[in-house]
Amino acid sequence: MEGKFSKGVSKWQGKLGLVRDAVRQELVTRQLREHLPPPASIRILDVGSGQGTQANRLADLGYSVVGIEPSEELLEIAVRASRKSKNSAKFLKGTLEDIPDEAGGDFDLVCCHGVLMYLPDLKLSIKKLVSLARTGGLLSVLTRNQAGIAMRAGMREDWPAAIKGFDEQYYKNSVGINNVRADKPDEVIAAFQVNNAELVAWYGVRLFTDHWKDRPVPDNFEQLVEAEFQAGSREPYKQLTALTHVIARRA
Ligand SMILES: C[S@@+](CC[C@H](N)C(=O)[O-])C[C@H]1O[C@@H](n2cnc3c(N)ncnc32)[C@H](O)[C@@H]1O
Repeated sequence: MEGKFSKGVSKWQGKLGLVRDAVRQELVTRQLREHLPPPASIRILDVGSGQGTQANRLADLGYSVVGIEPSEELLEIAVRASRKSKNSAKFLKGTLEDIPDEAGGDFDLVCCHGVLMYLPDLKLSIKKLVSLARTGGLLSVLTRNQAGIAMRAGMREDWPAAIKGFDEQYYKNSVGINNVRADKPDEVIAAFQVNNAELVAWYGVRLFTDHWKDRPVPDNFEQLVEAEFQAGSREPYKQLTALTHVIARRA
């Protein structure tokens, strides 16, 4: 089960709750809630649920959620948070390639946030995700955006990396993992379409704050998130964000 991300687990934990993580989590929750029906009898699968941020937020809202995660360390954090808020989220050890039978199938929503960039084949990963949703069910995927490579480097005044970044598809990410893949939004949308899932909406995530390094959440966080949401919801800004959030529906 050792995957590419396993080397980054400790560093990832160190960044949780800092502003870049907070912006990403707030936007994903807000965007998901725009498309989700009310909680009654809605079943959600979160693949690569990590520390359980989204799984627990959705469970707190009354949704029935199962999180699948390969890292024992992150599973423990997710379970602890679920117990603390007394929600019904269930967390199971597994991977996208090896979903435990206990998880079930035919989900109303299948989430996979911040995972596909570590897996070798975008189309195959999306095919597997689509197969876990019921007909008419939703999918929510957050992936790294190729255009964000040069943007982040440029905003950090790292000119050699910015110049190289325009044409690169793989980069070293902020938790120190090499050869992480970044896809173009159109490629992610096309990967859904060839796998029998139609686009519902797509958003960019993190334009103005992506180049910040390890800053805490500021007092004006609400305004900051609103500005990020506006940028991520419209052209041309959403093309240049760090991450792409695609919501699709299985036909
Ligand atoms: C960047 S973290 C994202 C965690 C969480 N989804 C979030 O958005 O906050 C990536 C997660 O994917 C998990 N992961 C790595 N390889 C995986 C695989 N093959 N299947 C499922 N999850 C995987 C990692 O253990 C890690 O928890």
